[in-house]
Amino acid sequence: MHKLLHIVASPRGDQSRTLRVAAAFLERFREIHPDWLIDELDVFDDELPRLTGRQVDGKYVLLDGRELYGELRDTWDEILQHITRFKEARAYLVSTPMWNFSIPYALKQYIDLIVQPRHLFHYVDGRSEGLLTGRRMVVVSARGGDYRPTQACHYDHVEPYLRTLFGFVGIVDIRFVRVEPLDGVPAAAAAETVEQASHTARSVAEVFLAEG
Ligand SMILES: Cc1cc2nc3c(=O)[nH]c(=O)nc-3n(C[C@H](O)[C@H](O)[C@H](O)COP(=O)(O)O)c2cc1C
Repeated sequence: MHKLLHIVASPRGDQSRTLRVAAAFLERFREIHPDWLIDELDVFDDELPRLTGRQVDGKYVLLDGRELYGELRDTWDEILQHITRFKEARAYLVSTPMWNFSIPYALKQYIDLIVQPRHLFHYVDGRSEGLLTGRRMVVVSARGGDYRPTQACHYDHVEPYLRTLFGFVGIVDIRFVRVEPLDGVPAAAAAETVEQASHTARSVAEVFLAEG
């Protein structure tokens, strides 16, 4: 059974505009692909392992082309489980608000855990190569301000960062559904923006797996 991994990076539950639009995507996706498993990972609610010096040592062991061993291997148990869960998916939905022009820290923690040599990328003749090919991703991102092509778009470090990061591991087919502007505007305007983005999200769900 194919799996879509939904990575939830807003801690605001029912209040989250990101999650409202993501729900529209998922509703349509489920209608079209009832055979797909939806696996949900909440990076705020699910206890993510910490990356202390000991765990970071493991990254350098892997970068060195060696295997994890002994106690180091044990401390990596949970990290490896997260890597496996990520790699098992054929498609991803990342639901992330903009926080301080970038992604929330819990999502960054998750990224720092899973992006590991030999698992998500490796080096060939000194050049890095992503190992997760043939996968697709949708990112839904609500933001208070407006970062559509204007001067302010340079402040958006969510889209460029996630495209660079996931591209690095081989995921290059990424669509963004941005929900903006939401704060400092009349409530009715924000509600309309969420409604329009939900419409876009449903359309993306229809073509998400169909193309290419
Ligand atoms: C900690 C924090 C930092 C934020 N930083 C920004 C920011 O840099 N730019 C922006 O446009 N909105 C910012 N916002 C506003 C949120 O992006 C906006 O309210 C969005 O709707 C939150 O997503 P959610 O409704 O899915 O939780 C911030 C909100 C929080 C809680």
